[in-house]
Amino acid sequence: MTAIDDNEDTEIARVTTCTGIAAPRMPAATEIEQQALTWIEPYSQAWHLARARDWLVHLDPGASLEARLAVVTHDIERMFPNGPKQNKATGRWDDPHYLYAHASRSAEVVGFWLQSQPGPREEIDLSEVQRLITLHEFGGVGGADLVQAADSLSFLETLQDVAKSWVINGECGVEQAGAKHRYMAERIRVPEARRLAEPLLAQALASLEDL
Ligand SMILES: [Fe+2]
Repeated sequence: MTAIDDNEDTEIARVTTCTGIAAPRMPAATEIEQQALTWIEPYSQAWHLARARDWLVHLDPGASLEARLAVVTHDIERMFPNGPKQNKATGRWDDPHYLYAHASRSAEVVGFWLQSQPGPREEIDLSEVQRLITLHEFGGVGGADLVQAADSLSFLETLQDVAKSWVINGECGVEQAGAKHRYMAERIRVPEARRLAEPLLAQALASLEDL
């Protein structure tokens, strides 16, 4: 049983109890998705990536393999040292310089990883995976809005404790942490996802009240 599996029941139960909603778990539909889930497992926010995939498939059951691979790996550059840094106390959450550097670095890392996997990979459009990863912070046409929405929903669901830790560790004030949650909800363009984000945002903001 993996660390992700260990967290699964308690995390989803907590969100469902508090918000009345939660995307069901969506098991890997292909071998390469299972390989991706195994690859990301050591990452401290692997649960966020796995849940982003669940939210994507919940929003769009017909999501392409490329979109599912993009969303389950979209932040993975943070598993490797020397990536771009963001000043959480003074920076803007929509800072395009940081967000683009982060997203494009993830796309590059995933490109190396995907090309190193054994077996025929011709059925996967690598440039489409990389396009969607690079757009995950911004959204866009051709499914990018859905990838961005899935990231936002999963952020609000799974990273409440991380945002709290920023305040506790002095990385930013409680106002900035709350602003991050609001930004992640407000940037969503997919109408159904905006609706789903409302109770998650309320829960995320409430999680900061006792700080
Ligand atoms: Fe993310």
